[in-house]
Amino acid sequence: MGHGGEDEATRRDFLYIATGMAAVVGAAGAVWPFIDQMRPDASTLALASIDVDVSAVEPGMSLTAKWRGKPIFIRNRTEREIQEAQEVPLGDLKDPVARNENLSGDVEATDLNRSAGEGNENWIVMIGSCTHLGCVPLGQAGDFDGWFCPCHGSHYDTAGRIRKGPAPENLAIPTYAFTSDTTIRIG
Ligand code: FES
Repeated sequence: MGHGGEDEATRRDFLYIATGMAAVVGAAGAVWPFIDQMRPDASTLALASIDVDVSAVEPGMSLTAKWRGKPIFIRNRTEREIQEAQEVPLGDLKDPVARNENLSGDVEATDLNRSAGEGNENWIVMIGSCTHLGCVPLGQAGDFDGWFCPCHGSHYDTAGRIRKGPAPENLAIPTYAFTSDTTIRIG
C-alpha cells in the first residue's frame, strides 16, 4: 500500500512532463517557418540594437523585449529578490561564471556581476533562452523564486543563475547599457 502513492506520483510527473514536451514541440513547429521568412540578413542582425523604455517597469515587474529574434527578460527586482540572490554562497552555484557580456573575462557570478551594476542592482537583463535546449523559461517561478524552464525542469534563481535541473549555465546576459534613467539599449 505504501508504494501505491509513489507510483501514482511518478505517473503524474511523467504525464506532466510528456504533455509539456508535446506542447513545446508543437509550438516550435508552427513558429519556425514564419520566423525563417522574416529573418533579416546576417549583416543587419549583427548591427541591430534596440532601445527599450523601462519607465513603466516598477519594482516587482518585468517586460520581455525581442532582440535578434530572442526574448530579452528585463526585470526590476524587489529588495527581497536582490537580498535572496546576494545571500547565496558562491560555492552553492552550479555555474560560477557571471556570463555577463558587459564584463570582460570570466568574472564570478555574484549578484552584483549579474545585475546592471552599482546603483542599478535592481535591474537584471538576460536572454530568455534556457541554457539546456533553448526553451523560454517562465518568470517568478521554480524553487528559487527566479525563472523556471518547464521543458525539462531547470530552476534559476532571482539573479538568473542555474541552481537545479539539466541546464549547464546561468542565463546569458547580453551587451546593454542604460542610455538614460529609463532607457536600456540592448546590443
Ligand atoms: S530546455 Fe531543457 S530544461 Fe530548459
